[in-house]
Amino acid sequence: MARKRLQEESTLNNKKKFLLAGLGVCVVILAAVIVVQSFVIQPPAAIELAKLPAGEYDPAVWGGYYPLEYESYRKNLEMTPSPTGFGGSVNEQKSIKEPEILMNFKGMAFSKDYAEDRGHPYSLEDLISSKRVTPASVGACMTCKTPYVKDVFKEKGWDYANLPLSEVVKGAGHPVSCANCHDPATMKLTVVNPAFIEAMQRKGIDVHKASRKEMRSYVCGQCHSEYYFEPKTNRVVFPWDKGYTPEQMYAYYEEKPAGFEKDWEHPDSQAKMLKAQHPDFETWSGGVHGKSGVSCADCHMPYQRHNGQKYSSHHVTSPMKNIEGSCKTCHTQSTDWLLERVKTEQNNVFELQHTAGLAVSRAHEVIGKASAVATADKAGLDKARELVRKAQWFWDIVAAENGMGFHNPDQVMNTLGRSIDMAHQSVEAANKAAGTHY
Ligand code: HEC
Ligand code: HEC
Ligand code: HEC
Ligand code: HEC
Repeated sequence: MARKRLQEESTLNNKKKFLLAGLGVCVVILAAVIVVQSFVIQPPAAIELAKLPAGEYDPAVWGGYYPLEYESYRKNLEMTPSPTGFGGSVNEQKSIKEPEILMNFKGMAFSKDYAEDRGHPYSLEDLISSKRVTPASVGACMTCKTPYVKDVFKEKGWDYANLPLSEVVKGAGHPVSCANCHDPATMKLTVVNPAFIEAMQRKGIDVHKASRKEMRSYVCGQCHSEYYFEPKTNRVVFPWDKGYTPEQMYAYYEEKPAGFEKDWEHPDSQAKMLKAQHPDFETWSGGVHGKSGVSCADCHMPYQRHNGQKYSSHHVTSPMKNIEGSCKTCHTQSTDWLLERVKTEQNNVFELQHTAGLAVSRAHEVIGKASAVATADKAGLDKARELVRKAQWFWDIVAAENGMGFHNPDQVMNTLGRSIDMAHQSVEAANKAAGTHY
C-alpha cells in the first residue's frame, strides 16, 4: 500500500517536474520571441513621412527626405567581391568558372552573355547593354528592372509585355529603387510586380493583406523568382501553382501551361529545353531560415545605427560582407566560424553543381551523336531527350540561384544528385537507342 502511494507520489512529482520543465521551456521560448521581436525585427523609431507623390521614381528625390537609407542604397554602386569567393557584386561571366554553361545553353542567348548579378542601381543599364537583348526583345524583360513598370501596367495592363522593349524602356528613367518596394505616401512595404501578385492570388494569398514580416521577403520575391513568358502574349508567369520545389515547378511545366513547352531547342540533342531563372525566393522558402521565419531583409538589409538613429541598411548585397550585422543578431558563433560554415556549404555545392553541369553537357553531346545513326530507334532517342531536359532543369534551378546553395543546402544537394543520375540515364538511353558506346 505504502509502496503504491510512494509510487503515486513519485509519478505526481514527475508530473509536476514535467509541468514545471514545460513551463520553463515556454518562458524561455517566450523570452526568445520577445528578444527576437525587439532586437531583430522591431522597426526603427517612427519616421517622419515625406508624402512623395505617386510616380516619383527618382531615388535621389526620395533620398532628400530619407538620407540614411539613400546613402546606403548608393553603396550598391560598389563592385566588391564576397569573402566566400562566390556571390559578390563584380559582374564577371559565369562561364569562366563553369564552361559547361556554353554547351548547355547552346542555341540560346545565355550562351552569349551570362554574368554574375551586381547592385540594384545597375539593373536598367545591365538590361539595355546585355548581349541577350536584341531588337526582338519584348517589354516583359523590363518587369523586374524599374519601378516604372507600375505606370505601364496601369496604363496598358499586360499588353506592355508584348511591345518592343526598345519602345517600352524609353519611359523608364530609374533602375530598381525605392518605389519598387515602398508606397511613396505611407512608406509601407509594397509589391508592384503584377506577376507576383497574380501567382500569390492563385495560391489563395492576398499580398495586400500580408504581415510586415512576410513583406520583408515578398518585396524581394517579386523579382528574385523563377518565371516564364506565356506564348503569344509574353505575359510574365511564376510557375508556383503546385509548389516551390524544383520537382513541383517541373510538374507544372509538364502540363504545358497556355501551350508553353520550351524556352528553346538544344541544337545538338534537339531536346526541348527550359531555362531556369534565379529562384532565390523558392529556394529560401523551403530552407532552415525560410522555415524559421528569417526574412530576406533580416540577412540582406540588417539594421545599422548613425548618431544613435537606427535604420535598415539599403546596401543589398552579400551578407558575408557584414557578418556581424547580418548573422550575429541571431547566431552566437564567431564571425570566422560562420564564414567557414558558409564557405564549406558553398564549396560542396559548387563541386556537385559543376559535376552535374558536365554530366548534362555530355548527355547533349551523346544524344547528338546517337541521333546521327540512321538506324537509331526514334522513341528511344526521345526518351533520352526527355531525360536530358529534366536533368538540365534540376542542374539549372540550382545554378541559376544566387546563394550557391546557402539558402537551402540539403534541398540543393538532393536536386544536384538527381540531376547527375538523370544525365547518366539519358546517355544510357541514347546509346541503347543507337546501339552505340559513346
Ligand atoms: C539567413 C540569411 C539569409 C537569408 C534569410 C536570405 N539570404 Fe540571400 N544570401 C545569404 C548568403 C549567406 C548568401 C551568399 C553570399 C555569398 O556567397 O557571398 C546569399 C546570397 C544571395 C544573393 C546573391 C548575392 C551576391 O552577392 O551575388 C541573392 C541575390 C540573395 N541572396 C537573395 C535573397 C533573397 C531574395 C532572399 C529571400 C527570399 C534571401 N536571399 C534570403 C543569406 C541569406
Ligand atoms: C528592395 C526593396 C527596397 C528598396 C529598393 C528600398 N527599400 Fe526602404 N526598406 C525596405 C525594407 C525591407 C525595409 C524595412 C521595412 C520594415 O521592416 O518595416 C525598408 C525600410 C525603409 C525605411 C524605414 C526606416 C528603416 O530604415 O527601416 C525608409 C525610410 C526607407 N526604407 C527608405 C527607402 C528609400 C529612400 C529608398 C530608395 C533610396 C528605399 N527605401 C529603397 C526595402 C526597400
Ligand atoms: C524590382 C525587382 C527587384 C527587387 C524588388 C529586388 N531585386 Fe535584387 N536584384 C534585381 C536585379 C534585376 C538584380 C541584378 C542587377 C544587375 O546585375 O544589374 C538584383 C541584384 C540583387 C543582388 C546582387 C547584389 C550584389 O551586390 O551582388 C542582391 C543581393 C539582391 N538583388 C537581393 C535582393 C533583396 C534581398 C531584395 C529584397 C529586399 C531584392 N533584391 C529586391 C531585382 C530586384
Ligand atoms: C533572424 C535570425 C537569424 C539570422 C539573422 C541568421 N540566422 Fe542562421 N539560423 C537561424 C535559425 C533559427 C536557424 C535554425 C537552427 C537553429 O535554431 O539554430 C539557423 C541555422 C543556421 C545554420 C545551420 C543550418 C544550415 O542551413 O546550414 C547556419 C550555417 C546558419 N544559420 C548561418 C547563418 C548565416 C551565415 C547568417 C548570416 C548571413 C545567418 N545564419 C543569419 C536564425 C538566423
